[in-house]
Amino acid sequence: MNIEERIQQAETRIFKAVFPNTTNHYDTLFGGTAMQLMDEVAFIAATRFSRQRMVTVSSDKIDFKKPIPAGTIIELIGKVTYLGSTSLKIRVEIFIEQMYSEVREKAVTGEFTFVAIDENKQPVKILRD
Ligand SMILES: CC(C)(COP(=O)(O)OP(=O)(O)OC[C@H]1O[C@@H](n2cnc3c(N)ncnc32)[C@H](O)[C@@H]1OP(=O)(O)O)[C@@H](O)C(=O)NCCC(=O)NCCS
Repeated sequence: MNIEERIQQAETRIFKAVFPNTTNHYDTLFGGTAMQLMDEVAFIAATRFSRQRMVTVSSDKIDFKKPIPAGTIIELIGKVTYLGSTSLKIRVEIFIEQMYSEVREKAVTGEFTFVAIDENKQPVKILRD
């Protein structure tokens, strides 16, 4: 499989229902919960791409463009956007979907960097020779 096919194959999507246990006092998804879900989908995408032990080393700017109301469905999409030697970047987008119509819009974007580590927690090459 070439790199482009691996990137395609590693694209990861998670759906969640925005229930009240994840919302704040404005009745919208709590930002910290959104960040946790984003890190999780990014971790899964990084792991599916590399099939190695991956750790989060950095998160870039996260833009919360629209509030995510309780009672909606969200889809998180994680995709490899950069491949370094021992690190890679995953862009994560969150889309809001209304439950009872086809309305769908982008709400949040962010990027996370992961490093592949060995059993001694030292960085190792993502692509094995
Ligand atoms: C991940 C870790 C092993 C990297 O160690 P390190 O000494 O920084 O490693 P290096 O300097 O060799 O960098 C390794 C790679 O990470 C990249 N990197 C390191 N710090 C980075 C940062 N802040 N932002 C983006 N990339 C970074 C480097 O550019 C390098 O990439 P490349 O090999 O693709 O060129 C170490 O920082 C660590 O253990 N961090 C804690 C990870 C963790 O526990 N995460 C869970 C969150 S609590």
